[in-house]
Amino acid sequence: MKMQKAWIYEEYGPKEVLKLGDFPFPTPQHNQLLVQVQAASLNPIDFKRRQRPIFPSDFPIVPGCDMAGVVIGKGVGVTKFDIGDEVYGNIQDFNNGEKLKQLGTLAQFIVVEESLVARKPENLSFEEAASLPLAIQTAVEGFKTSGFKEGQTIFIVGGSGGVGTLAVQLAKLLYGASHVAATTSIPKVEFVKQLGADKVFDYTKTKYEQIEEKYDCLYDTIGDSKNSFVVAKDDGAIVDITWPPSHPRAVYSSLTVSGEVLEMLSPFLESGKLKAVIDPTGPYKFDDVIGAFRYLETRRARGKVVITGFPLQDFPTSGLSGNYSNSNGNI
Ligand SMILES: NC(=O)c1ccc[n+]([C@@H]2O[C@H](COP(=O)([O-])OP(=O)(O)OC[C@H]3O[C@@H](n4cnc5c(N)ncnc54)[C@H](OP(=O)(O)O)[C@@H]3O)[C@@H](O)[C@H]2O)c1
Repeated sequence: MKMQKAWIYEEYGPKEVLKLGDFPFPTPQHNQLLVQVQAASLNPIDFKRRQRPIFPSDFPIVPGCDMAGVVIGKGVGVTKFDIGDEVYGNIQDFNNGEKLKQLGTLAQFIVVEESLVARKPENLSFEEAASLPLAIQTAVEGFKTSGFKEGQTIFIVGGSGGVGTLAVQLAKLLYGASHVAATTSIPKVEFVKQLGADKVFDYTKTKYEQIEEKYDCLYDTIGDSKNSFVVAKDDGAIVDITWPPSHPRAVYSSLTVSGEVLEMLSPFLESGKLKAVIDPTGPYKFDDVIGAFRYLETRRARGKVVITGFPLQDFPTSGLSGNYSNSNGNI
């Protein structure tokens, strides 16, 4: 059996259960693309899923949802993409009721349904593109869940995290917020202002009760709605993206996994108005995935923790597309 290099775990536990090993080379099924991964990013769900059985899936598991890479093969039924296309997406469809894929994105090669990816905007590097999918799908869904309307005000708890940095940017850019407030700790206050927040509160100095303004929408990205709810107007929307929400008024918002969201945002990414935010401690090398998890698990990341430098040895691209595609490019 043809094998590839991947990060693997065969039991639940701390990051030490992760081993760099071999995983079977995948074959794209109906509607699936075979992609050579160029960059990936980590999300808290990657370590939460590794720590305990949240989603049903079989061992061994290769973690990782987000990736950007190059299409090198395709299954029957693929219509939108061709070999050589540069794509990005979140490959794990949490909402389809099936087991998650065993093969996540911390591998040289993955398969993904074409509906879950989008063409990578040319002006984005693979690293920038890989940083976006899961977090931006979540950020967009939170606005939808809250019923946010143009001209309203918003308070984003956790403006410097993977989801928060995108929610802050999208608030005005896509949803026409009239005023954006956010929280973070002192070293990141200026950074969150630069993302577009009008007011940034250092949560180590200011308690929610000390904030006089009341907001149309409270968007909590850190699971603190039991405390943060006080900044919402009496009839304001309260959205919490962590499960279970800690305040009875908070509505849980879960991402929709689809390439469509990424396509919808392409013009904003291509114009440079919407920016990918890569944590400055990275990008981390493929060999240092454990270091990347160590950092993400401190819960102090500024934007996204990105992995790059996927090994290319053993699998020259030229040999692969010939082996895995017929003259139509189909398997
Ligand atoms: N429902 C869904 O579909 C969905 C999707 C994605 C993520 N999530 C969940 O949403 C949460 C956030 O995800 P993420 O990717 O944004 O996480 P993340 O990138 O790890 O968030 C880290 C950020 O949180 C900030 N933070 C931590 N404590 C804070 C506090 N008390 N007040 C303000 N900011 C604080 C940190 O800023 P400081 O260093 O300044 O503290 C840091 O910048 C996770 O629990 C994740 O599992 C849910």
